[in-house]
Amino acid sequence: MNSDLAIDARSITKTYGDGALAYTALKGVDFTVSRGEFVMLVGPSGSGKTTLLSILGCVLSPSSGSLSLFGTDVVAAGERRLPELRLANIGFIFQGHNLIAGLTAAENVGLLLELRGRTRKQSRAEAMELLRAVGLADKADRKPVELSGGQRQRVAIARALAASPPLILADEPTASLDATSGLAVTELLRGLATERGHTVVVVTHDNRIYHLADRIVRIEDGLIREATDVAGPRTSAPPALHSSHS
Ligand SMILES: Nc1ncnc2c1ncn2[C@@H]1O[C@H](COP(=O)(O)OP(=O)(O)O)[C@@H](O)[C@H]1O
Ligand SMILES: [Mg+2]
Repeated sequence: MNSDLAIDARSITKTYGDGALAYTALKGVDFTVSRGEFVMLVGPSGSGKTTLLSILGCVLSPSSGSLSLFGTDVVAAGERRLPELRLANIGFIFQGHNLIAGLTAAENVGLLLELRGRTRKQSRAEAMELLRAVGLADKADRKPVELSGGQRQRVAIARALAASPPLILADEPTASLDATSGLAVTELLRGLATERGHTVVVVTHDNRIYHLADRIVRIEDGLIREATDVAGPRTSAPPALHSSHS
């Protein structure tokens, strides 16, 4: 185990169901992310991206393998401690923004702060600050239905940032957005890594945003296939793995 790493996942497998219905979605995944790194996890539909992100986010337990987050062995800690580890370490931006329809933007963001022990008044003040950070101070009292897709996604980011968890995980945060808001949302996430030291993992197959990643990791059929350094210096020329084909 290397505690310099934000994420140290080794030989992760995940099998859903059992008997004849068992389906192995992850077949032995090694995935490591440094602190402050911005990684995109890409791959076709059904390849295991959401499963892996859910395991990293302590939402789901792996069937086998080891996982450490910031030096804490999550698997050894046991299933009962997952909610606590999640609350302390992780801001999750779900596929589809998952905001609570009956609550305003500020209430959606503040709810998690209250869960983390803040008073209502403190929560409101911190929620306002987070909404300001994502450019939505003037929309704090709007309900999700009164916001655009991009604005809702930014509220979801503000909510994920509540109490500043060191690890931000986002599942296809730009999937329902037009190119301009998709880029704006991803730039916001990029800034969290660069300026605030958050570690960020974004699942996507939106190639319009790839250039913002430090590293792109590709998953196919439950296995990591290749990783590409985008921003960092290349140690060798990128291999021409796939020539164009129809
Ligand atoms: N709760 C579940 N029960 C059974 N199979 C599942 C479940 N969740 C996902 N799967 C299967 O696992 C595979 C990987 O799913 P997922 O991780 O959602 O892929 P992706 O996010 O890359 O589209 C898919 O074949 C999917 O049908
Ligand atoms: Mg998915």
